[in-house]
Amino acid sequence: MKKHGFGLIGCGAIAKLHARAILDIENAELVAVYDYNYEFGKKFAEEHGCKAYKTLEEFLADTNIEIVNICTPSGLHYEQIISAANAKKNVIVEKPIVITHEQMDKAIKAVEENKIKIEVISQLRFTYSIKTLKAAIDEGKLGKIYIADYRMKWYRSPEYYAQAGWRGTWAMDGGGALMNQGIHGVDMMQYLMGGVKSVTADCRTLKHNIEVEDTANILVEYNNGAIGVIQATTVAKPGYNRKLEIHAEKGTVILSDDTIEVWDVDDMEKPELGVSMAKSGSSAMSFSEYHHRLQFLDLIDAIENDRRPLIDIYEGKKPVDIILATYESNKTKTKVNL
Ligand SMILES: NC(=O)c1ccc[n+]([C@@H]2O[C@H](COP(=O)([O-])OP(=O)(O)OC[C@H]3O[C@@H](n4cnc5c(N)ncnc54)[C@H](O)[C@@H]3O)[C@@H](O)[C@H]2O)c1
Repeated sequence: MKKHGFGLIGCGAIAKLHARAILDIENAELVAVYDYNYEFGKKFAEEHGCKAYKTLEEFLADTNIEIVNICTPSGLHYEQIISAANAKKNVIVEKPIVITHEQMDKAIKAVEENKIKIEVISQLRFTYSIKTLKAAIDEGKLGKIYIADYRMKWYRSPEYYAQAGWRGTWAMDGGGALMNQGIHGVDMMQYLMGGVKSVTADCRTLKHNIEVEDTANILVEYNNGAIGVIQATTVAKPGYNRKLEIHAEKGTVILSDDTIEVWDVDDMEKPELGVSMAKSGSSAMSFSEYHHRLQFLDLIDAIENDRRPLIDIYEGKKPVDIILATYESNKTKTKVNL
């Protein structure tokens, strides 16, 4: 059996989950890691039975690495996508794919020119509840959707921001509660509703000592005619389940984290409950690698069958565009059309 060789850049919090997901895939192996702090990389490599490289150039020259997982601070993703693409490696990149329009354009150019495959992590799209809801919407089982709301009332401690200096900065995090944590919800909502038409935002820094917002409220108009509110905060101590609420012609669906809490839809049985694997209300890393693994398998399948990965660069761009429009709306105090 051909084994797909993976290499990880950045050996911090999310990298451990990536490594577990790779080790769980029969036809995959973790070949090597690179962290600009070599001691981090070396320790990580010892723990996971792989090589650690001292430079990015040596790492990218390893011909056993076919797929590069980018697990570094968000502001570094674009230059590492470009380096990996130029070395003809396929890429898995953590969310947000990049944090500015300029970075996006450069990353797209490198991916297109080198014809590599790239999968952008947005693991909640792969959950049972979102797959079930997406299918019901697309098959017209909910009828016309009137209201679609998403609330992420999470808590992140001062230590969370202090632990890694890049968090909560414009240059490396690209934003706060929205660009870092809320992006999952923004992506799910735009995916379910067929895209966003406009945003009107109010972003504030209510509690944390950070440059960026810790709370964002957005009034959203969706492409399918629905309206709603997206709310993301990291000040709601001790942190609560994400809530996704849809009110449509044929009834109401409410998700609490990954679980289907309410399915009051005409002529439809409530689908079996989803098992919640993505509890992140009060801690950044308290979720399973299960859905990351599904995304890694999707990229492997896309490589083997020469097809587009489910969340490719153009899909990964969508939530970033919406969030950048939100920041523009907050700055100009106007409604911004996408
Ligand atoms: N999908 C999710 O649910 C999820 C959850 C957490 C984090 N993330 C994303 O993962 C990324 C990393 O977050 P984290 O919390 O693991 O960060 P972290 O600070 O814990 O780890 C980042 C690692 O990158 C290394 N690094 C920094 N600069 C580097 C460089 N130039 N070259 C190589 N290595 C470098 C650091 O030494 C560190 O080990 C972010 O983009 C974040 O948004 C996603």
